[in-house]
Order: sequence, then structure tokens, then C-alpha cells
Amino acid sequence: MSDNILISPSILSADFAALGQAVRDIDVAGADMIHIDVMDNHYVPNLTIGPMVVKALRPHSDKPFDVHLMVKPVDGLIPAFIEAGSDIISIHPDSGPHVHRSLQTIKSAGVKAGLVLNPGTPIDVVEPVIDLLDMILVMSVNPGFGGQSFIRSQLTKIEALRGMIERSGRDIILEVDGGVNPITSQDCIAAGATSLVAGSAVFKGAGSYADNIRALRGPVASQVA
Ligand code: DX5
Ligand code: ZN
Repeated sequence: MSDNILISPSILSADFAALGQAVRDIDVAGADMIHIDVMDNHYVPNLTIGPMVVKALRPHSDKPFDVHLMVKPVDGLIPAFIEAGSDIISIHPDSGPHVHRSLQTIKSAGVKAGLVLNPGTPIDVVEPVIDLLDMILVMSVNPGFGGQSFIRSQLTKIEALRGMIERSGRDIILEVDGGVNPITSQDCIAAGATSLVAGSAVFKGAGSYADNIRALRGPVASQVA
């Protein structure tokens, strides 16, 4: 089962003076996607990466760019991130006036669309737009910073969303973001997650990037690899 788990290291925890190298390194180390955290000091209290940086990183990996937009208002920025080479763009439902329209904008460009649920966001926001979704991203910390502790109450939300995805019959990635380490990753996988974001655990973990990525997949995957 853990063979199918996607690992999407967040470059938020990488050395920002050498982001291209970081992307190349995690690509070689076995990352399935590259998670890029875009923060605007408005929707969240931090300021990180804009579309120019995403565009500059694009030649450094062929792996999908999993772009997490924590910006408000979001609509004006979506086209720039599409043009920069994003493969998946995930948005928060409270970052614009019409979430369905924002998702339509992403999908109409042939880019995969994700909806992000903060720890305090109920799952009801998903159902009305589920036909547009390629990813549901469950935040297991409040967005804004790397290195926070995993909020365990989100595991029941992951289980509920797993059920909702099964009932929809759609092929939707269920990703978890925040405080994911080799222990909490196993709880997420057991709850039904299919993709894990990890910043600190990959870039600041004890082993090599490859070891750290493997450890997130679980003990069985670590042994056979
Ligand atoms: C938080 C970001 C996360 C963050 C995860 O707002 O969305 O992607 O980088 O960092 P860790 O894995 O350190 O919790
Ligand atoms: Zn993120």
C-alpha cells in the first residue's frame, strides 16, 4: 500500500540561496512531486515564493510542481502560476469570492486543481466542487510556517474525505501537509492519505534526502528499498 504513497517535499525548508540545487537533489532522492508554498503576508503571516521563482525552478526537475497558494485574493495570481509551469495548483476556499470559478480557471488551462482545508475548515466545502478536483489537501497545521506540530484531530477529517472520494468514484489525490514525519506519516496513510508533504522531515531530517523520503513511506518501504 505504501508503494503508492506520493511524497511531495516542501522546498519551504530548503536553503533559499540554492533552491535550484534543492529541487534537483530531492528529484534524484525520489520525490514524486515538488511542493511549493506560496505565501503573501496577507492570507498567512509569511512571505515566500512568487511566480518568477517557480518559473526559474521549472528547468530543474521534470517532476510535477505541486503549488500551494496561500494568497488572498487568489484569482489575480492564478494565471501567473499557470504560466510559470505549475502542474497542480491548490487554493484555499476562503481566498477568493467564488471558489468554483477559481477552480474552473485552473482546470480550463489544463492544470490539475486542488482544494485546501485548514484545520478549522469543515469538509462540507468539498462536495459542491468535487467534480473539479484532482487533489484535496488537508492542512494538519495552520498554514504559514514549516516546522509546526501535527494536529491529530485532522486524522478523522482525512478518513471522512477518503470516504467522500470513494463515493465520488473520482481519481482524487488526498494529500496531507504540516508536521508530517516518519511517525505521523503512518497515521496519515492509515487514515487514507495518498500523498504526503514534508518540509522539515525531508530537508532537516536525520538522514540523506533519499533516506528521509523513504522513511515517510513507512517501515516496509524502507526495508525493501
Ligand atoms: C505550511 C506549509 C507546509 C510546510 C510544511 O503552511 O503549507 O507545506 O512547508 O512544513 P513541515 O513539513 O515542516 O511541517
Ligand atoms: Zn504547503
